[in-house]
Amino acid sequence: MAISVLVGTQWGDEGKGKIIDVLTENMDMVVRFQGGNNAGHTVEIGTSKHVLHLIPSGIFRSRTLCLIGNGVVVDPLALEKEIKELQEKGIEISPANLQLSTRCHLILPYHCGMDAMHELARPEGKKIGTTKRGIGPAYADKVSRIGIRALEMLDIARYETRFREQATYYNSIFSGKGMETLDIDSEWSRQLAAAKFLSPFIRDTVLTVNQAARDGKNILFEGAQGMWLDVDYGTYPFVTSSNTTTGGACTGSGLSPKYINEVVGVIKAYTTRVGEGPFPTELKDATGEMLGKAGNEFGATTGRKRRCGWFDAVASSYSCMVNGVDELAITKLDVLDDFEQIRICTAYDIAGKTVTHMPSDNEEIAAAKPIYETFPGWMSKTSSCKSFSELPQNAQNYLNKIADLVSASIGIISVGPNRDQTFLV
Ligand code: GDP
Ligand code: IMO
Ligand code: MG
Repeated sequence: MAISVLVGTQWGDEGKGKIIDVLTENMDMVVRFQGGNNAGHTVEIGTSKHVLHLIPSGIFRSRTLCLIGNGVVVDPLALEKEIKELQEKGIEISPANLQLSTRCHLILPYHCGMDAMHELARPEGKKIGTTKRGIGPAYADKVSRIGIRALEMLDIARYETRFREQATYYNSIFSGKGMETLDIDSEWSRQLAAAKFLSPFIRDTVLTVNQAARDGKNILFEGAQGMWLDVDYGTYPFVTSSNTTTGGACTGSGLSPKYINEVVGVIKAYTTRVGEGPFPTELKDATGEMLGKAGNEFGATTGRKRRCGWFDAVASSYSCMVNGVDELAITKLDVLDDFEQIRICTAYDIAGKTVTHMPSDNEEIAAAKPIYETFPGWMSKTSSCKSFSELPQNAQNYLNKIADLVSASIGIISVGPNRDQTFLV
């Protein structure tokens, strides 16, 4: 039995979707446990490319049961659309391979309105650059104990009453702020259709995941976002609203930590960030542009250009510590193929002091000047390499240096977006 948690160790978009898809060859179950449709997980199989937002990336394997755990916030309209779009592409999706937790909190249209309203109200320099998917406001309702959960979709009369009550409450806020209000009747009719469509998928997934663990099944937890977007450990307040780190897998699914036997940390061979907030190794120059171009760094959910920079070992070593990473899946190595020199940040200079641990204070992180070690590039193509020993010696040295700096071993290397461009080490 293998029960593994896979998390992003940087600012998201590390290539988690691709690695999940590769690992699910041997998995009975894949479980999303936090976040919502702010996530965009890309899976490329042969000539097909899919971007998943809520559905676990194990959906392309016929024997894998996919769960959307209780820690996920679910926009019913987005989930309905995602299921239908995949079905139209010929992917089988039914309650036999996809379950939605009764306990998931719903993202309803007023949450998206609130997300936009908060962002507008923040002054320049304080904007978060959210995905505007209503994630923060939905989690806020959950914690404020006024949220609506998926189980309410099973009782339409109750759901309608709650939806109308909440929408009326939020409309009063919007009108007070001079914002457009929701047309509650037409919003409800869309929600009603989605509720009917999704009802057959709704289950107590806590029972499903625990039964699978007791039966000795192989289970993979699919993290969304990444360590530095975690609401507790990330570059607060420039974070998302959930625990993106390993601990979230338990609270977001109802499986006890005693079952988890491995943590896989997905790490990009350089660093990217989309949205606002500090990013010490960001390159606002031609090298940053070159990384973005070679890595095709545009957001899978919002299409925004991702900020790019060198690998940050200060951030990543702290991240691997918090997540308890055993094995690294290092992605996008091929993106560095044409760089004559490659740099790794091994410490920060903050107001003249050398710092090797990520500070808790966002303002200190913003003031950090990276201290780099420079490595010779390999200047040759890695995208068709099939093993570690086939990689150029300088690429091997670079990867070993990363593993050494973050104190974890290398388990998987990815040298291209396709499922086949991956090998175990
Ligand atoms: P996720 O959110 O962590 O699942 O990552 P995204 O899907 O948002 O972004 C990763 C992007 O990099 C996607 O477009 C992937 O297809 C692509 N990708 C993943 N691994 C590799 C790789 O090893 N090399 C290259 N060139 N692209 C990759
Ligand atoms: P995946 O799972 C990268 C970022 C947003 C913003 C901040 C808060 O694909 O790695 P939110 O909408 O969550 O309130 O936005 O978090 N963000 C992501 N960045 N990858 C993601 O997911 C992200 N999900 C949210 O850009 O800066
Ligand atoms: Mg993504």
